[in-house]
Amino acid sequence: MKTISVLDKSFEEYISHRDIINRIKEIAENINTHFEGKDPLFLGVLNGSFIFAAELYQRIEVPSNMSFVKVSSYSGTKSTEHIKQLIGFDIPVKDRNIIIVEDIIDSGLTMTHVLEQLSDMGVKSVAIATLLFKPNSFRGSYKVDYKGFDIPNDFIVGFGLDYDGYGRNYDCIYKIKQ
Ligand code: IMP
Ligand code: MG
Repeated sequence: MKTISVLDKSFEEYISHRDIINRIKEIAENINTHFEGKDPLFLGVLNGSFIFAAELYQRIEVPSNMSFVKVSSYSGTKSTEHIKQLIGFDIPVKDRNIIIVEDIIDSGLTMTHVLEQLSDMGVKSVAIATLLFKPNSFRGSYKVDYKGFDIPNDFIVGFGLDYDGYGRNYDCIYKIKQ
């Protein structure tokens, strides 16, 4: 089992690159089927989603657009309770079928924030695609349409996900060693 160090912590391989890519291919096939003729607009949520978004979007075969929004938790003790909008919507979303692309849905608050913003903007529909989902942490009240993997509440890095800004570059998912 491959082990890596990121800053002061050790992580072990949890989901291989091959398993991630195979799952992304399945998600892309489903989206290609469901969104044929629907001209979807993919909205990646930065920073974490950039690798998943790139791997997913290269496998999308329906005419569509891709853009990004950037949100971030405030640093501090209640890190997930206050969300900052750092880059907003740079492309009209009115009357579009939106597919939000996230790396991970944990408590679900970041996604709630993005959904609240979109709810005032006259979109035609909203779907959610996330590579990773923590069912035991999720407190949202919305449906997650496309999920790569359900994972336990362990902290993970790699494939875009970071620990204090580091570790995004690894091509598979690593789980923290207890
Ligand atoms: P949520 O708002 O609690 O759903 O968390 C969303 C954000 O927290 C994600 O977009 C990630 O940036 C970050 N996050 C949650 N869990 C992890 C993890 O296990 N590793 C790295 N980042 C995480
Ligand atoms: Mg994220």
